Amino acid sequence: MRSESEVPFADNPFLVPVAERMKRLPPYLFGKINKLKYQKRVAGIDVIDLGMGNPTDPPHPLIQEKLADALKDSKNHRYSVANGIGNLRREVAKRYEKRYGAKLNHDDEVIACIGSKEGFSHMCLALMGQGDTAIVPSPTFPIHMYSVILASGNVISLDVRDPSEFLRNVAYTCEHLYPKPKVVIVNFPHNPSSTVVEADFYVELVKLAKMYGFLVISDFAYADICYDDYKAPSFLATPGALDVGVELTTMSKSYSMAGWRIGFCCGNREMVRALATIKGYYDYGIFQAIQIAAIVAMRHCDEMIDELCVEYQSRRDILCEGLSRLGWEIEKPKAGMFVWAKIPEPYAAMGSIDFSMKLLEEGGVAVSPGRGFGDDGEGYLRLAIVENGQRLRQAVREIGRCTRVEAAKAS
Ligand SMILES: Cc1ncc(COP(=O)(O)O)c(C=O)c1O
Repeated sequence: MRSESEVPFADNPFLVPVAERMKRLPPYLFGKINKLKYQKRVAGIDVIDLGMGNPTDPPHPLIQEKLADALKDSKNHRYSVANGIGNLRREVAKRYEKRYGAKLNHDDEVIACIGSKEGFSHMCLALMGQGDTAIVPSPTFPIHMYSVILASGNVISLDVRDPSEFLRNVAYTCEHLYPKPKVVIVNFPHNPSSTVVEADFYVELVKLAKMYGFLVISDFAYADICYDDYKAPSFLATPGALDVGVELTTMSKSYSMAGWRIGFCCGNREMVRALATIKGYYDYGIFQAIQIAAIVAMRHCDEMIDELCVEYQSRRDILCEGLSRLGWEIEKPKAGMFVWAKIPEPYAAMGSIDFSMKLLEEGGVAVSPGRGFGDDGEGYLRLAIVENGQRLRQAVREIGRCTRVEAAKAS
């Protein structure tokens, strides 16, 4: 029999020695808010949830019907292929050509992912290691930073709210840092700040990538969610982009298929191959019935995207105009699913986490505190326009009631 000292963890059987990389993750900043949201729901209290870019609208009926059909075919219940079925990848390549004029070879420049977040984080794991540095947008959609950290890389955060200044700072960092950054992550339309760019931004980025030898990962999750006359440019439409980087897109937002977990990584074939290698070890691909339904979505449901944009734009207007009437300083976003709102005086001093808690506790409105997106997010709230117009009007009334900032003028 082994003595007690030979038994692992004998002193404290419940202490699990997690990997060092886990210790590099900070405490979860949305924890307190999520807990309160859950408690309210359990108590039967209505919460208007503007916390997450999680669409509430269902996918087009044709997509749902195709999934139901595909379920009946026993072939579709087996493991699929890790990089996505050929017809799906072909459809993605066609869509890039049709929408952006970007030519992609579906064989080796397109890979399907279990949501773009999976593709993004495994791409970071494939590219980054100890001693490697990535430039990451700030304020930061958490996975942009923590994929690098989980891959043991170092992060340099650069503010993206002025894209020209961001580019100047990328060049400055490359000029002065040794070793130079290996990867630059961009995300326009940006989550959380809704900052957008024009095509010339990517021309300059590709030029810098070639000059300083860094790789680009462009997260293009909000590619299709654009308002007024704005059309978000694709990084891959830029001459030379395929030499230096990849772009992630998703079915989650454009087709309201967030729970289906399907997205794509396209571009530089060596980078796509590196991701395919990792995925070959980690997963067996997306449920094939979902891949088949996704083909139908891309072939036949693009008019749904236009309707979705009209709906989101009307929600954007309701929320922005409502908050402006309350005295908030609001800029209407040109794209994306978020309103990035500066916290008004006198509440700014409270900090975004406590102010968000107040809105949830007193007004039943859940929002994301800017602080959850890093230091540069402090002083702001991110409100997702995922609830319908009537619920957004109600949210504005509740925010007005519990802040009393020019509440009399509300709605
Ligand atoms: C910028 C950004 N990238 C990626 C994702 C995740 O997309 P997916 O559902 O494809 O994993 C989100 C979702 O909120 C996002 O905001």
